[in-house]
Order: sequence, then C-alpha cells, then structure tokens
Amino acid sequence: MEKGIKNRLSAALLAATCAVSVVPAGMGASAEDGAVIYETGFEDGVIEFTGRGGVEVIEAVDTSAHTGDYSMCVSGREKSWNGPQLLLDERCEAGVEYMVSAWVRAEWYNDIKLSMEYTDTEGTRHYSNLNSAVSQGEWVEITATKFSFTSDVTNVYIYFESGDTANIYVDDFVLEEAPIIPIQEDIPSLKHVYADHFKVGTAICASNLASPSYMDLVEKHFSDSITFGNELKPDSVLDQNATLAYVEENGDDTNPQVTLSAAKSLLDYCGKNNIPVRGHVLVWHSQTPDWFFKEGFTDEGDWVSKEKMLVRMENYIKNVMEKLATDYPDVEFYAWDVVNEAWTDDGKPRTAGSNNTSSGQSAWVQVFGDNSFIEPAFEYARKYAPEGCKLYYNDYNEYIQGKRNAIYDMALDLKEKGLIDGIGMQAHLDVSFPTASVFEAALSKFASTGLDVQITELDATTSDTSEAGFETQAQYYSDIFDAIVKYSDSVSAVVLWGVTDDTSWRATKCPLLFDAQFQAKPAFYSIIDGIEYTEPVPVPGDANMSGSVTVADVVLVQKYILSEKKLNAEQAQYADMNADGAINVFDVALIKQILLA
Ligand code: XIL
Repeated sequence: MEKGIKNRLSAALLAATCAVSVVPAGMGASAEDGAVIYETGFEDGVIEFTGRGGVEVIEAVDTSAHTGDYSMCVSGREKSWNGPQLLLDERCEAGVEYMVSAWVRAEWYNDIKLSMEYTDTEGTRHYSNLNSAVSQGEWVEITATKFSFTSDVTNVYIYFESGDTANIYVDDFVLEEAPIIPIQEDIPSLKHVYADHFKVGTAICASNLASPSYMDLVEKHFSDSITFGNELKPDSVLDQNATLAYVEENGDDTNPQVTLSAAKSLLDYCGKNNIPVRGHVLVWHSQTPDWFFKEGFTDEGDWVSKEKMLVRMENYIKNVMEKLATDYPDVEFYAWDVVNEAWTDDGKPRTAGSNNTSSGQSAWVQVFGDNSFIEPAFEYARKYAPEGCKLYYNDYNEYIQGKRNAIYDMALDLKEKGLIDGIGMQAHLDVSFPTASVFEAALSKFASTGLDVQITELDATTSDTSEAGFETQAQYYSDIFDAIVKYSDSVSAVVLWGVTDDTSWRATKCPLLFDAQFQAKPAFYSIIDGIEYTEPVPVPGDANMSGSVTVADVVLVQKYILSEKKLNAEQAQYADMNADGAINVFDVALIKQILLA
C-alpha cells in the first residue's frame, strides 16, 4: 500500500469488514430455496424426456441406477447429438434463473454434456453447452448448473448428449428455481468508496438479469457504468436476413441492417435504472461475421474493396447509433469503444484474414491492407455518436511495450485530429503477469497523452484457487488499484469484466471480486482497505440509500410493491415517505414529487 495515496480505514471498521468475510451472510439457512419444477428418479417408469433425433429408445431400466432401482436409459442413438431433451416452455418462466442437477453414466469412457437449445424471433435455433461430466462407465454428477432464457425465445430445451452414440443413462434429475442468496448489505459499496476518484462499473450479459443476487451486487457496487458482455458486438447487432432483404429491395449492398434484439433486455434494464452505458464495440476483428466484409453479404462472396467497406462501415455505425437513439432514447451511452484490439503485441497490424477461420486474423486488415480503417471508424463514430459521448480505442496486453507504443502513437495522432477522447485499458491480468509496476508504466504513458483513460475489462486470474491463492490475488488487486488511484486524475472509470467468478469468461481461474455464492472475496476487501471516503447520508425517499433521490429509488420501491425486490429495515424507513408504516403507491408518488421538484 502506498503512503499518501490511501489512508488506512480505522482498525475497527477493517475488523468489521473482515469479520463479514469469515461468516458470509446469505449462506445456508438464510438462502431462499427455489421451487422444484421437475424431479425424477424414474422409479415410476414415467419419462417426460423425448428423443432429439427421433430415433432414440428412451426407457426406464432396472439394469443400472444411481439411487433406487431405475434410471432412464437412452439407446439407439445414431448421432452424438441424439439424446433425451426436456421442453421447458410450459414448465419454466422467462427471466427466472433455474438450476439442473443430475447423475449420468456412459457405457464406457465418455464426456456427457448438458446443453440448452432455444429458437430466436427470427427462427434461428441456438445451442449452448451448460456443463459436462466425464464418465468411465460409472455414475458421475452434473452439479447444480444454472441457466435462464429471455421472453423473446421459444422451443427452449435442456438436453443430454455425448461424444459418441453409445447408451446414456440419467438418474436423479432435478430441475428447480435457483436459490436466491442474499448479498452482503453491510459491506461498503465499491462505487461509493471510489466516488471521489472514478466511476466503478462492470460488464453484464443478458443472462445475468435472471439472477436477483447478481443484479443486487451490480446495483450496490457497480451501477456507475455498465458494459454489455456480448450483446452490442457486431455479431449480435448485424442482421444478415434484414441486410439481404435490403439489398433485394434497394439494390444497395452498402447498408448493413442492424438489430438490437440481443441487447434489448439489457437496454431496458439500463434505461429503467438510469445506468450509464459504455458501448462495446463497433469495429473489431473478432465476434464479427465474415459476410459483413464480403460481396453480396454472403460468406461465400469475395472480399469487398476498401472503398465499399468504408461505406458499409459508415452505414453500420450510423445505423447502430440511430437505432439506439430512436428505440432507446432514455439509455445514456456515455462512452463507446470505437475500435478494439487492432494492434499486435509487437505494435503491428494483425494478419489479414478471417478471425472466424483463423483466430487472431483480421478481416479489416484483409480489406484495408493495414490499420488505415481505424481513423475513419473514429470519424464516423464522432459524426453519429450522441452528443457528449466519449470515444475510446480499447485493447488488451496494453502494457506490452510494442503494443503500448503503437497505441500511444495512434492515440496522439487521433487526438490531434479531434477524433478520440480516451484509451481503454482492458486489463485482463493474471497475478503472475504483468506486475503492478509494468501495468502502471502503461497507465502513466497513456495518461501522458492528455486523453482520458478507462480501465474497461478488469479481471485478474489466479491458478491457485486455495485460500492462500486468493490472498495473493487480493494483494495483486490492491497493488493494481494503488496504481490506478495514483493516476485517478486521468482515469474516469474502472470497469470489472463481470461480478462473480463462476460467471466470468475466465471462470476456472476465479478472476473477480465475488465468489459463486455472491460473497466478497479477499480481493474485494483489499481494494477498499485504506481508501478514505464518505459514506453517503441517505435522505427521505432515498430507498437505495445512495445519498440522493433518483429514478433508481422509484424503480426500487415499485419493484418492492410488486414483490420483485426486498428492502431491509433501514431502506424501508427511507422508502416510507409518509411514515404510515406501509410502503405503497402513495410513497412512490411522494418520491416522484421530489424528482420533479
Ligand atoms: C468476451 C466475452 O466476455 C465472452 O463471453 C465471449 O465469449 C468472448 O468475448 N476483450 C474484449 C471483450 O473486448 O469483448 C471480450 O469479451 C474479452 C476480451
């Protein structure tokens, strides 16, 4: 910890916060268990699963069972994807988080997968693997696996499949609502702790919205800034069918059409809760379909010319910005990542090609020959982004010298032309690399451009997930935050790439501040330790106790009335505006009056 940057919290407060980590609230008895939707050991011979391939024989057998006498045996599989599926549309509700557990057995060595399927509004079927377990002929458990789906999808199934066509056995299958584990209300809010330094935000995906505990953590600690994990990337936004229809109707093959269907639930959430959004991302070699760069907007077409791609790029950026402004005027996009990951570690453009065929290659470089697509991307973003929205170049390994220098030079050039506002340091770190001082050197160099710096995707993995490993991770996080605080005059936001370890894109190495039980890890305590801050003083109507009355309080009280949210005793006091001992529409009306005053 650096002197002069942080002043230690009083010993008493520190002891109090540490005690919370030892006895996590919300575990065991205090967790609210969800309703069981479907539970079977197949003892009664009734099977509600059907065959995915239509050729499978699915029956209750007494030749093998994990418990009791029977299990479900699936034989006659002709393809590896053949297996038992359970239709969920009638059983489960959109926007609710569920959990599946089951015991499975293969005939001999095999990886049995639990997967999910749904059909989107355009009729496209989507498949995702949720979990798997390796069986070498013995029963193995597929442990509590969470999933949810949104209201605009249909034909939702969960199903089992395996790597070959041998028989699969399933027993002790349980589908239930995921338990709601209360978050720790009594720990400091990260966004309050750093309020004098920078915004604190996180990335969320549409699926996180179904977890009330996850969203409680977002609201308590990270609601200064939200980035969508995937839903505004080109592969989510570009609509090939609509684009082809547009070509057919207008004979114009330079106007890629866009859809916000993947982002809808997140946009609704941020609009309703008044949370500023970091747009992510417009121009990237990854998560972008090849057809965008091809003649006829089909994967089979030739690469288009640079001239045509410039027009497509401008129209894409224009269409995204216009659709957001039209359909979601209430959502504030305060920042956009215009270009992501264009430089290699040695400061060169990426290799020309398709990232979809060879990871790391760039179709932008394929079409432009070099990185000359960056400047027009910023020009168009400047032209169409909402007023006041800041534009960023964003990258990872940003502390590696070659890349760092390339970003620095590019940023200064774009700054001179008035096109860029900031540099996004993704900060996907590991406790073993880079050291905090190597990270700080990059931060210092970027700050010296005079541009804003945001830490846009912070996470720090650890291979050692023992208690000692998490202590090391805590020290590392503390050192990284020390560096960021040191440059906080230049840093406007620190955004974590997710909230809980189990839902991280790097889940196996537990890179985040909260564990799968929504409890703060040592890393959380390490970054609040020593920061001097003033806890906001709640005022009447301030149901979320943020220090002022905002639309978020109205939303919270409304949700409380609809039984969608709980209020603790203290929050209830601030929500009960007319002090009549009940919280109802009259209180909402009074809170709204404060907002209008
Ligand atoms: C990641 C998402 O978190 C994953 O869900 C997805 O499978 C891959 O992309 N740099 C970025 C982010 O700019 O968009 C990436 O997000 C992580 C690396």
